[in-house]
Amino acid sequence: MPYDPSDRVAYFLEGMSQGNLPEKTKQMIRSFLEVQNIYLAAVREMDTKLRILNEEFKSIWDRNPIHHIETRVKTPKSIIDKLTRKGYPLTLESVRKNLNDIAGVRVICSYIDDIYTIADLIIRQADVELLRTIDYIKNPKPNGYRSLHLIVTIPVYLSQRMERVKVEIQIRTIAMDFWASLEHELAYKMDSIWPEDITAELKACAEEIAAIDARMQRLYNRINKRSK
Ligand code: GTP
Ligand code: MG
Repeated sequence: MPYDPSDRVAYFLEGMSQGNLPEKTKQMIRSFLEVQNIYLAAVREMDTKLRILNEEFKSIWDRNPIHHIETRVKTPKSIIDKLTRKGYPLTLESVRKNLNDIAGVRVICSYIDDIYTIADLIIRQADVELLRTIDYIKNPKPNGYRSLHLIVTIPVYLSQRMERVKVEIQIRTIAMDFWASLEHELAYKMDSIWPEDITAELKACAEEIAAIDARMQRLYNRINKRSK
């Protein structure tokens, strides 16, 4: 039977019968949806901040430091999975406190230097509070993963209150993104531990890709100098 789309609990349950759901559970679902909306708002705010910087950069320097932006809000299922996996309590308070990546923004830049330019411009904004920087470019993960991660909070204004919301920003080049996307897909296929030779091969790929990123940066710098 079709369900009323304005009934948010029914929407969450994709039409599943609510007849025997305790009121407490329904209340929990409602607050979960409210929290999801706040994280969605935070992602939108951050996306706009980045687009504004990119457009301004374009008008001054005639090029875009950002190639593209991807955003996502973790689904309730994946939030519950992660809390369970890490042994945290299944409450909204625990979500806010323990998870940094409910709101995720991925910024794919053209060149390595653009990553640090964008990070710096975001961190310097008065309403952005930096909680943590993890530089997997200067210190790549043992498997070869590279990206600059920022955990920040930004204010989200609702009708009755303001809330500071955590956002995980991953900033990387097109080349780093190429490796991370394929590695992620491969990791998904491999359900057990990777054989050593595969790990080594993937790491070697990451290093070749990093060398190309550095060459492209040098090339850009040379061309940029000539055209000045
Ligand atoms: P998660 O529980 O995976 O979020 O890890 P964490 O909270 O310990 O933080 P970490 O910095 O390790 O990873 C944060 C996010 O970076 C991940 O959710 C991925 O999106 C990305 N990431 C980190 N390591 C890798 C990696 O080895 N490969 C790929 N493809 N992505 C990675
Ligand atoms: Mg994550």
